[in-house]
Amino acid sequence: MYPGLAHRRVLVTGGAAGIGAAIARRLSDEGAYVAVLDVADTASIVAELGGRAVGIPCDVSSTASVNAAVAHVVERLGGLDVVVNNAGIIGPNAPLAETSDADFTRVVDVDLVGTFRVCRAALPHLVAATAGRVVNIASIAGLEGNKGRSGYAAAKAGVIALTQSLAREVAESGVLVNAVAPGSVGDTGIVGPMPDLAGRAIPNQPLGRIAGPPEVAALVAWLCSDEVSFSTGAVYDITGGRAVY
Ligand SMILES: NC(=O)c1ccc[n+]([C@@H]2O[C@H](COP(=O)([O-])OP(=O)(O)OC[C@H]3O[C@@H](n4cnc5c(N)ncnc54)[C@H](O)[C@@H]3O)[C@@H](O)[C@H]2O)c1
Repeated sequence: MYPGLAHRRVLVTGGAAGIGAAIARRLSDEGAYVAVLDVADTASIVAELGGRAVGIPCDVSSTASVNAAVAHVVERLGGLDVVVNNAGIIGPNAPLAETSDADFTRVVDVDLVGTFRVCRAALPHLVAATAGRVVNIASIAGLEGNKGRSGYAAAKAGVIALTQSLAREVAESGVLVNAVAPGSVGDTGIVGPMPDLAGRAIPNQPLGRIAGPPEVAALVAWLCSDEVSFSTGAVYDITGGRAVY
């Protein structure tokens, strides 16, 4: 258990499935009140979390939807202390030369502009909170690029730059803004089910496997907790050593 998370009012975007659901679960287990925002149905994760969670429909690619959802969160939870920007899509796998305007801009709109929209709507509430926190889910793709996923990599690099910029802007208010950069994470919509890799060496995976969503959720929960008090604008690697290869 991490100190400070009990009774914190938390918003997790893309919390219906995958990494976001694991983050919602972990923060709820830590005693936080969790609002799960998603375009997908949140009934299952909200039922799992019982009285500590509320599901709110939200499309992060729409400013009106984000503004309404954040207002709804504040009304239901009585304020907002923590935002986890996790909603994301990876887009089609195609060389840049064969990528349409629509495919490129869609992934940037959801992954990067969506993060911007949610931060903008949430900021006045985070500044008013005693320990405001933002954790943005970036990716190793945003640091190293990704062949066939130029829009995704560019969006995630943008999420990192947004994190660094916002951290500086709000530092004096006490709001801490950090990012995490996972490598491959199984049991998610983006990667699919956790592969059975027993006995197989995996290229570029020093730990011999990919991550599970609860491992990313543990890092996010730590960043949201009172254990972290002097770190902002940072990007936390969770690639199992892959990023150093
Ligand atoms: N799985 C990986 O290997 C991996 C690696 C690095 C980073 N990430 C990042 O982690 C985050 C979560 O991905 P995941 O792997 O759990 O994928 P996922 O597909 O399992 O979950 C993504 C969630 O976001 C929601 N979502 C999609 N578009 C949305 C929108 N416009 N508005 C609101 N919600 C929306 C989906 O409905 C879904 O519930 C993403 O930002 C992704 O880029 C994932």
